[in-house]
Amino acid sequence: MRADNNHPTRLVVLISGRGSNLAALQQALTDHPHLNAEITAVVSDQSTAPGLDKARDWGISTLVVTPKADETKSAFELRLLHQINKQRPDWIILAGFMRILSADFVAEFAGRMINIHPSLLPKYRGLNTHQRALDAQDPIHGASIHFVTATLDGGPVLSQVSLPVLQQDSAKTLAERLLPLEHRLLKATVALLLTEQVQCHDDAISINQTRVSKPLQLGHDLDDLDPQHALTGNGH
Ligand code: GRF
Repeated sequence: MRADNNHPTRLVVLISGRGSNLAALQQALTDHPHLNAEITAVVSDQSTAPGLDKARDWGISTLVVTPKADETKSAFELRLLHQINKQRPDWIILAGFMRILSADFVAEFAGRMINIHPSLLPKYRGLNTHQRALDAQDPIHGASIHFVTATLDGGPVLSQVSLPVLQQDSAKTLAERLLPLEHRLLKATVALLLTEQVQCHDDAISINQTRVSKPLQLGHDLDDLDPQHALTGNGH
């Protein structure tokens, strides 16, 4: 979805925690006003998520939607849906949102909700991705951005970034080395969504009506939004 000249593209970001990807995205939108997009609200399912403070520091509206003790999942999701829809979002970005969403919820935002996941999908859906990559002795690890479907971390993958696993890596060091690459992947991928016609229908991604057969790789077929930080030392 492109913005027209008058109306910036409206983004809603869902978080549960730290919000470093959120901060990276907001910084990119500030640094690149030609992208003509704004984060209209940050929604968290955790009232104490540090990312909420980051959003407030930027002057972004924050909304907390936490499940009530006696509430069904569908009632909670209805409240969440209502809050998101009030923003009239063009895109919904899950950036560390630690909740499994139902098929009904996901269907509401089919083709316009993406998630960043710290593995080279389809490897390691779910949690503990860094440790699982180490346990499998993978030489390469990375992060993916995918369209959200009813299958957990299972939607079509739009973009990826990879880095070599070092012999001395722990799950912690691997996560630390990957995080700045995740930020760049998110920024570049959102820039792509904002400047090109990216569509996802029936599990197939197309860009300007050309089918994408495999995930775009940051630094190769996906341009880094900030090319002065060219990828170094990460296997590219
Ligand atoms: C990131 O590693 C992201 O890939 C995963 O959750 C983490 C969120 O980190 N989905 P942050 O809250 O953006 O700092």
